[in-house]
Amino acid sequence: MVNKITVFGSGAVGATLAYNLLSRVSFSELVLIDINDGIAKGTALDLEDTRGLLNFPTKILAGNSLELMKDSDIVVFTAGVARKDGMTRMDLLKINGQIAFDTAKAIKTLAPQAIVIAVSNPLDVITYIFTRALDFGRKRVFGMGSSLDTSRMLGMVSNESGVNVTSIDGYVFGAHSEDMIVSGERLRINGEGIDSFLGKPFLDALPKRVQLRGAEIVGQLKNRSAYFAPSLAVCRLIEAISKNTREVIPVAVLLDGELGAKDICMGVSCVIGRGGIEEIVEPKLSHKEEQDIDRIEKVFQELKEVLPVGI
Ligand SMILES: NC(=O)c1ccc[n+]([C@@H]2O[C@H](COP(=O)([O-])OP(=O)(O)OC[C@H]3O[C@@H](n4cnc5c(N)ncnc54)[C@H](O)[C@@H]3O)[C@@H](O)[C@H]2O)c1
Repeated sequence: MVNKITVFGSGAVGATLAYNLLSRVSFSELVLIDINDGIAKGTALDLEDTRGLLNFPTKILAGNSLELMKDSDIVVFTAGVARKDGMTRMDLLKINGQIAFDTAKAIKTLAPQAIVIAVSNPLDVITYIFTRALDFGRKRVFGMGSSLDTSRMLGMVSNESGVNVTSIDGYVFGAHSEDMIVSGERLRINGEGIDSFLGKPFLDALPKRVQLRGAEIVGQLKNRSAYFAPSLAVCRLIEAISKNTREVIPVAVLLDGELGAKDICMGVSCVIGRGGIEEIVEPKLSHKEEQDIDRIEKVFQELKEVLPVGI
């Protein structure tokens, strides 16, 4: 049973996640923490005003004090800055990496039993910072990225094929960046191959479309990035934990030989349940996917050079 959930960052993703949680998950206390006290408190008041419409029993607390998260069962990290048009992942990491490291130190003291879900970008490295700084073990520290990418892919396939998304099987894994692995060979419709539903031109173009979807959204919104689908993807992870559904969902986790990689976080299918990651479901990789993983590892090593001191 999940009692207390803390969401760091009350910006677009954090606030939308809070709304999703109140609408969909049964728990007793929601905490919103933002460096900007007014953003956390104002968002909490707005959410409070949905109580009369949604009829949830959850108590809502908000502010800029880290103490508010004390004894949380789940902590979600959406704080920092979102990618704006023209920003690189290195730019983002320099800002968000330090905030993640400082937050991890506070979680370790105040909420040592928590399951921690990273959302801020660059997601795989931020997950790595939390995993290393918290030292909770990898079952309780993971990042949401590949499940969003998977949802994007499944939506595109559903639209093209005219088949309900629940009958389409497939997932995106690896990095949560433009190096993500979108493999058409893994796609199935009701367990069968997809060739009769989808043409070659669509399948050839699919990986790039999924890889560039985040940038496509930023390109339109300009000063912010996606938030409806990301926050719902996090909410789904929390539902899986709180209801112990043991669904298989790809999340970023510290790899220890899985996918042929070590000491790196990236998305891989995991059974998600009460304890967080219950199992890692390791895929058998094609030669092309192995090469993709090698490339992801190289980029990750470069990003590691700007990790906060102490990681
Ligand atoms: N993993 C994914 O799939 C995914 C998808 C979308 C967005 N994101 C990432 O999520 C993060 C949040 O995105 P957003 O659109 O909500 O951004 P946003 O700018 O709307 O919100 C970020 C919030 O963090 C707060 N903040 C900044 N520093 C803080 C600190 N030290 N402590 C507490 N709060 C702090 C800001 O005041 C702001 O309210 C970004 O890094 C973005 O790139 C990830």
